[in-house]
Parts: sequence; structure tokens; C-alpha cells
Amino acid sequence: MSRIKYVGVTDKKKKLFEGLWPLPYGVTYNSYLIVDEKVALIDTVEEDFEEEFLQKIREEIGDRKIDYLIVNHMEPDHSGVISSIRSTYPEVEIIASQKAAAMIEGYHGIAAREIRTVKEGETLCLGETSVSFYMAPMVHWPEVMVTWYEAENTLFSADAFGTFGAVEQWNCFEDYREEMTRYYTNIVGKYGAPVQAALKKLSSLPIHRICSTHGPVWEEEAGKVVALYDKLSRYEPEKGVCIVYGSMYGNTAKAAKALAEELDKRGIPYGIHDLCNGVSNPDDLGQSGAIADLFKYNTIVVGSPTYNNCIFPPVASFMDAAAARLVKGRKFFAFGSYTWAAASIKLLNEKAVESGFTLLGEGIAFPQAYSPEKCDMAMVAGLIEKNL
Ligand code: FEO
Repeated sequence: MSRIKYVGVTDKKKKLFEGLWPLPYGVTYNSYLIVDEKVALIDTVEEDFEEEFLQKIREEIGDRKIDYLIVNHMEPDHSGVISSIRSTYPEVEIIASQKAAAMIEGYHGIAAREIRTVKEGETLCLGETSVSFYMAPMVHWPEVMVTWYEAENTLFSADAFGTFGAVEQWNCFEDYREEMTRYYTNIVGKYGAPVQAALKKLSSLPIHRICSTHGPVWEEEAGKVVALYDKLSRYEPEKGVCIVYGSMYGNTAKAAKALAEELDKRGIPYGIHDLCNGVSNPDDLGQSGAIADLFKYNTIVVGSPTYNNCIFPPVASFMDAAAARLVKGRKFFAFGSYTWAAASIKLLNEKAVESGFTLLGEGIAFPQAYSPEKCDMAMVAGLIEKNL
């Protein structure tokens, strides 16, 4: 029988993760107990779930005390209940990386000197079994470590291999693929190189089970999860088009939809994202979905009207998000409407070049209302197909 007990919680109330990213299918904050001669708790949950969390722990261990609280990651969705664990279990010893200790002091007022800091490869004996620790900096905060439980070939991976979507939401990896992609690209996406470094470091471990801080526990399909994280963190795209647009009065939107129709005719895969929409529409998650498709596809087509002689703000925000995530090696085309002065296309192209994208053409700025004559999306689709 496994010594690992799941004591995580499901959050279906929160609308925006980190105050930014839509959660149409909820999210879990996972925490686990290892029950041996000593009891270890690995990570906690968000503070709103304190009562439910403590109850779940009591259901698993009754009146036994928690000997160790292992803090893999300090982001508050996992560290929110540290103070409460300490007051409920005053003898608990907190185990964390050096960088996490300083954060625990800052967030919870627990002096760093009272925290037992561990180094790369260090082992903690729990009785018959033990855990060891490996640092995974910038996956996706600097203090992150992962915990390896050799007795059950289990990796407690912090945010790595996490996904949006409640644990009971779906049954298999394929069902989670899109939400896992959105989670990785939105939250961790900037840190492809550290994720690659962590994957390399952990590749020698015989991992049979992954216990991440978000989403299901992965066993049979753990290899598929690791493969997706590997692909995304290498920024490896598929053939297809990410259409992203913002529109003030619908003209740039009409051009975007015309391109989608042309891609349909050619059987070219694409995603289309309205940056002025999407906070609560699971079929179009605005910038969040657009960032996922930015990683997924090799061609990015961006539509923006000219606004105050600049890029329309939601579109500028998307371009900044792309640059922040260090996405490179994409083909790029810009389009958009203007009324009296065209500025957005030139500025979008400049940002695209700064991001290391290859321009497929000069782009199309069209005056006033959209028409196929002013903005020939059949031509653009042909250009994309030729360069796909
Ligand atoms: Fe789920 Fe980086 O916290």
C-alpha cells in the first residue's frame, strides 16, 4: 500500500489564476503526506482552503503530528497555509531550500534560522523510507526544489508537470493536453531553459509517478506529460497558425475571421483569439489562449487597429507577453485597420523582429471599413501555406 496520501483541494471559485489567467475548469492546489515512522507534508494550499485542508490531513493521520513540512515552492497558492500548519503542529520542522527560507520569513514571519535548509541531493530519513531533494531554480521561481521519494519512484515536482483543470475534471492526458499547454505557456513559459535543465537533471531518476502541485497524479501517462513539457520548453512548434487580434469597431475582427475562413479552405490548422474577449469564454480565452497557440504553432498572424498612433493596447500587451516568454523562430504577419494614419503594422513588425520572428511580408494596413479588396486574406493564406 502506498505511504502517500493526497490532501490537496480543488478551487472552482477563482476566476483568474494569478489575477490574470482564466480558469474555466478550475484548478487544484495539491499537497501530499508521506506517512512513515515520521509524517512529512509536502507543500500546502492556498490560504482560502485552510479549514478544508486541515480537515483532510486529520482524516488521514488522525491525532498524529506532522514531523516535517517540506516546502518545494513558495508561491502563495502552495505556501498559503504554512503559518497555520506551524500553529496547529508546533513541533513541525520546516524543510526548504536556502532561497525559500528567506521567503518563508518574508511571507510568514518565521525566522529563516528556524528553518532547516537542504542542499542538492540531501536526504531526509522518514523511518523505513526517505526522501531526497533536487534544486529546480526558476521552475518557475528561484527557490524551487523537487522531492524524490525513491521507495515509490515518485517525484513531487512542484509546479513542473502541472496543469489547469480540476483533478476530477477529465480522465486522461489527452483530455488535459490543452489546459496543460495553457498552464505551462501562461505561467512557466518564460523559463524554457531552466525547465530543460531540470528535465536533464531528473532524467536519470526512474520516475513511475509524478505528483505535481496542480492537476492529476500521473502514473501510466507520466511519460506523455514529460514529453509535452519537453516540447514546450524547447519552443518546438507545429505547422499551423495562431491568429490573434484586437478590434475596436469590428473591422480588424472581420479581417481576422476572413483569414480563418481561408485557412479552413486550405485545411491549415489554426487557433483564433480575440484579445478583447475571453475572460470567461472557454472557447476563446483571449490572451491566455493566444499565448498557448503562440507556443503551439509556427506562424503568428496579428491584427491591430492603429490607436493613438500606436498598437491597440490589448495587442501591444500580447506582443509584450510573447517577448517576455522568449518565444522565437516563428513566422509573422501583421494586419489591421486605421482611419487617418496607419501606425500599428510598422510597430508590430518592429516588435516581431525584436522577438526574433521572421516577417512573411510587409503586412496589410487598410483604411476604414474592412473589405476583401482592401485586405486580401486569400493572398495572406496563400503566403502562409507556401511558407508553412
Ligand atoms: Fe502553482 Fe508557481 O505556483
